[in-house]
Amino acid sequence: MISATAPGKIILFGEHAVVYGRPAIAAPISQLRATAVVAASSQPGVRLIAPDLDQDIMLADAAADNPLAAVIRQVQTAVPQATLPDLTITVGSDIPIASGLGSGAAITAAVIRALTAFLGLAHLATNEWVSALTYEIEKIYHGTPSGIDNTVVSFEQPVYFVRQQPQNRIDTFNVAQPLHLLVADTAVRSSTKVVVEDVRRQWQANPEKFEALFAGCGRIAAAARAAIEQGDIAATGQLLNENQALLQEMTVSSPDLDKLVAAATAAGALGAKLSGAGRGGNMIALVTPATVTAVSNALLSAGAKTVLASTLQPQ
Ligand code: MEV
Repeated sequence: MISATAPGKIILFGEHAVVYGRPAIAAPISQLRATAVVAASSQPGVRLIAPDLDQDIMLADAAADNPLAAVIRQVQTAVPQATLPDLTITVGSDIPIASGLGSGAAITAAVIRALTAFLGLAHLATNEWVSALTYEIEKIYHGTPSGIDNTVVSFEQPVYFVRQQPQNRIDTFNVAQPLHLLVADTAVRSSTKVVVEDVRRQWQANPEKFEALFAGCGRIAAAARAAIEQGDIAATGQLLNENQALLQEMTVSSPDLDKLVAAATAAGALGAKLSGAGRGGNMIALVTPATVTAVSNALLSAGAKTVLASTLQPQ
């Protein structure tokens, strides 16, 4: 029996604009993980079990658009010489789905790692390879993903990411001072695909406005990297607020997200914004050890379903 895990993620700066080639910053959330367990089976075939989704099916019977089956087929395409013995793959995750925390990408990456290890092919499963395969699956379910989610869940490191040809730019960077973040869930599910498609429609209808918004997000992400590298926490917080204002103009915030952002700010957060595709899902707030409890309580009082503390530590 072989198991593997992959973390959730948050986008600190630059969601949506990153799809259009502007820089963005994301980090793993290591406490929230997806897990895949692969075990030999006495039953013929490949059995896919996802208890959280009430799913228990054989690969041979899986619909063409079944996400788990797609991952297995992706591995088969990438390693055509590998034959699948009779086995059972069981997946679970404590990353809430459709909440901007990368649950789909994390499940995919965990399955790829567990399956390749089970097949004796762990040497193939470099972070780059897992990320590239995960990206192929993201494309099926998210239309036009930038590639930032699969990168962060596969490398499990904070990254400064630029979508570009022939190869994405993936920089790790120095965190000079710990960044204490709270991640709060609106409990409103939101489809990344739907929101990304809606932003695309708005961009097509109003290219000047949206190009300017994306460029603004890109400038903010670049400035945020410098602020984080210099340990300028106040500037980092201010940049979160500026990014949130641009996301509101893109219409991807929501009354629930705005309420949590306002509550965090009023309770002393240095900055706050939605994280991920928006229109639901999670928001993040930058706090200090002195304000963490007050901001956390304020988020819960304002309706957050859960509040999670996550710190980006200097490496
Ligand atoms: C989703 O985590 C981030 C978006 O920018 C989409 C993407 O980058 O693929 C909204």
